[in-house]
Amino acid sequence: MSIPAERDAREAPIPPPAAAGAQDRAVAAAPAAAAILSVNNIEVVYDHVILVLKGVSLQVRKGDIVALLGANGAGKSTTLKAISNLLSAERGEVTKGSIIFDGEEVHARTPSELVRRGCIQVMEGRHCFAHLTVEDNLLTGAFTRRDGHAEVRRALDLVYGYFPRLKERRGSIAGYISGGEQQMCAIGRALMSRPKMILLDEPSMGLAPQLVEEIFKIVGDLNAKEGVSFLLAEQNTHMALKYARYGYILENGRVVLDGEAKALGENQDVKEFYLGMAEGKRKSFREGKHYRRRKRWLA
Ligand SMILES: Nc1ncnc2c1ncn2[C@@H]1O[C@H](COP(=O)(O)OP(=O)(O)OP(=O)(O)O)[C@@H](O)[C@H]1O
Ligand SMILES: [Mg+2]
Repeated sequence: MSIPAERDAREAPIPPPAAAGAQDRAVAAAPAAAAILSVNNIEVVYDHVILVLKGVSLQVRKGDIVALLGANGAGKSTTLKAISNLLSAERGEVTKGSIIFDGEEVHARTPSELVRRGCIQVMEGRHCFAHLTVEDNLLTGAFTRRDGHAEVRRALDLVYGYFPRLKERRGSIAGYISGGEQQMCAIGRALMSRPKMILLDEPSMGLAPQLVEEIFKIVGDLNAKEGVSFLLAEQNTHMALKYARYGYILENGRVVLDGEAKALGENQDVKEFYLGMAEGKRKSFREGKHYRRRKRWLA
């Protein structure tokens, strides 16, 4: 543990006390009683030495959509994998802090136990079994269920209700359907476990804007009508803030800013760095660095 700490001290600027304040505000905004997920000051290390998350805290209330935003390599996927207990497959581990899902520490559970308890991750990159049909892919999502064929059939109908495109393509081999349909298939497969919460990693990646809109709308519907909570990791800040109630911005393994989605969308730094809406004249790279620092201090 001492090695990552030293490495961190050398490579990353120490955030000012104000940054910790941002996290406290988040905890105050989402009282623990209503939280389905609570990530408390976690550190994650890969390969015993690479410190990637440096004290991340976040909360998701029951029935909420929360966005986890940040650029490439900020630590979004790592956070999601820490929650679903998938880090060990990549030689990663949570070395500090705690993660509570629905009242229980997640590290005491295997990923499949977590799925059974209602927490499932849709991995980045819309993974489907390429050689199976769409319907067989969906059926693999029911493997943790023990409530019989009729219930699985009902779950399948529910998925087809939300994703009519999947119903049309139910007999197609998943490797040959479009990227958007594969993303739908991956989300649909997660739904087959009847989750309380979906950890959704970059659903917009590589998709045309119209499809991104379609998928986010379905996410919004699933949240509103089925009460599924979402933690949504996204680089597409605009879309994520449109559908989320609350958001966290990760930079270099730390939460640098958090707040209600509306307030984040109106924040000058978020507009400039994540929504590409700089006010006035174009800023030089040097100014950019200055603003980046200002952003940390403001957080
Ligand atoms: N298995 C691994 N071993 C070592 N380092 C890793 C591993 N996985 C990720 N990292 C590093 O951890 C950091 C965070 O990666 P992560 O994938 O969590 O970022 P991200 O925010 O999801 O980025 P992206 O938007 O590109 O998906 C990166 O610097 C990455 O290189
Ligand atoms: Mg990622």
